[in-house]
Amino acid sequence: MKRKSPFYVLMAVLITAVMILGACAPAATTEAPAGATKAPAAATEAPAATAPAETKLAVGIVLPTKDEPRWIQDETRFKDALTAAGYEAEILFSQGDSAKEKANVESLVTKGVKVLIICPQDGSAAAAAAETARAAGVKVISYDRLILDTEAVDYYVTFDSLAVGAAQAQYLVDKATGTGNPLYLYAGAATDNNAFLFFQGAWNVLQPKIADGTFVIKNSNEAVALQDKLELTRDEQAKIIGQVTTNWDFNTAKNLAEANLTVAKTADKGNVFILAPNDGTARSIADAFAADKDVTSYVVTGQDAEKASIQYIIDGKQSMTVLKDVRTLVADAIAAAVAYLEGKTPPQTNTYNNGKIDVPAKPSEVISVDKANVKAAVIDSGYWPASDFTGLP
Ligand code: BGC
Repeated sequence: MKRKSPFYVLMAVLITAVMILGACAPAATTEAPAGATKAPAAATEAPAATAPAETKLAVGIVLPTKDEPRWIQDETRFKDALTAAGYEAEILFSQGDSAKEKANVESLVTKGVKVLIICPQDGSAAAAAAETARAAGVKVISYDRLILDTEAVDYYVTFDSLAVGAAQAQYLVDKATGTGNPLYLYAGAATDNNAFLFFQGAWNVLQPKIADGTFVIKNSNEAVALQDKLELTRDEQAKIIGQVTTNWDFNTAKNLAEANLTVAKTADKGNVFILAPNDGTARSIADAFAADKDVTSYVVTGQDAEKASIQYIIDGKQSMTVLKDVRTLVADAIAAAVAYLEGKTPPQTNTYNNGKIDVPAKPSEVISVDKANVKAAVIDSGYWPASDFTGLP
């Protein structure tokens, strides 16, 4: 599959950025990464780039878990971008454990990183790790998820998470006809600020359609109690999320969906509409609804354009996903790191309040994907190769 030109432009930007990143690395820290590797074949048509002979570890990256394809995706995209330019940054995983996350940060600080790119496992718990880095003079870039309740965050690279939730909800609205459609709500982990943003974005679109009778909420009496209110406070959102959280965990999602279906009456099933917060949980929830004999049809949302969910969409088992092009997020994170290494400030279009400060940010756009545009959005854009799927439309 031939890649489109924007990808080359992105790679060129990345390669330039990463060359600067290598060149700006400080002289004294730990061992240089084992030989600055040459651009491998994977860099294909990208301009040839050779990293400086003596690169040091200037940037450390900490991601939340290897147990979800989403974060393996980010690791791969980071590696692709860095390796293409012959530079290495250390990438560590926290495996869902804030203590491990803090130990990872301490290890990177000890190795002399000047910039930390970190996606917190738990937004509030990560404040201590960010403060450790800040105290050592390290710039802290919050990646995808916002670190909460601390001043020690310099920048936030993210997607427009309100738009993610809005796209999911709009998909449900567009597929619904008439009134009384059963609606099942599910959310992400309450420790993740994004879970609130996704839910808020979705609620803004769904609430008027609940108020006018298009949808009837079936699995959350907390949501029913608040269904006449468009603007929810964080505490109100927390009440609903607390009742319908998947904790970003496939098994939790499956068990919750099955428990909801066990309690629901036959009349609460039929043609159902499901707000599922991401692809991993969407597949679990979809499997549970598909197995219920009283569910005639279901529309279910997702996000992340995970390979397994793209196949589910092709197969008609998941209705949509929201593509968040991780290549863009990686490019933005690296560009921000380079800006800091050069003593500059990364571009800012928005701020996100983290409970202590307004963190400068530049959120990226997202794309709603279903069977109708999956080939154009996911394959033709070079995001995933066609050969990874069967039965593409
Ligand atoms: C990310 C999603 C991801 C979820 C679970 C969120 O913070 O934005 O892309 O699916 O965490 O890991």
